[in-house]
Amino acid sequence: MYINFWYPIGLSKEISAEQPFRAQVSGLPFVAFRDDDGNAHVLSDTCVHRGSSLSAGWVKNGRAICPYHGWEYGGDGRCARVPSLGDARPPARAKVDSYPVQEKYGIVFAFLGDLPEEARPPLYDVEEYGQEGWKAQTYILELACNYERSVENGLDPIHNEFVHPAPGRADDVSGTAEKALAGN
Ligand code: FES
Repeated sequence: MYINFWYPIGLSKEISAEQPFRAQVSGLPFVAFRDDDGNAHVLSDTCVHRGSSLSAGWVKNGRAICPYHGWEYGGDGRCARVPSLGDARPPARAKVDSYPVQEKYGIVFAFLGDLPEEARPPLYDVEEYGQEGWKAQTYILELACNYERSVENGLDPIHNEFVHPAPGRADDVSGTAEKALAGN
């Protein structure tokens, strides 16, 4: 897995200041929410207290609230309040991992690696996005395959001519590759 990269966590419209949003990336659980200023945050979805899912709780005053004992996590991942401690400050180790976030193209991205800000690769710049005469479509695909196969496929547009040709084309060879691969 390319851990030092920006990963889509959810659509901007799915992430709110009311309900936590659960995402799974490469088998790891994350929770996303917004603070009172509308900024999106992404945290590890495992409460450091006893392992409950923060995404099963709720969001209040810009914090993700754990549904088990009510610990309150800010966007920086620090536990800002432990209800059973009253006004006492939670210990510094009461913290979950938080991830840098960028919101672009109607998508909330999180950087899941450990590179410092200046070393992080940029998000791909789609110059046409938002410009008059262009429209964007967002697809969410669930593929029953290893992610490496999917990435490889996306990096290989040339195969489309032969494996998925436009129907009705004069030199249509639809199915030829499938038959060849099947040994027919
Ligand atoms: S497990 Fe989260 S507050 Fe106890």
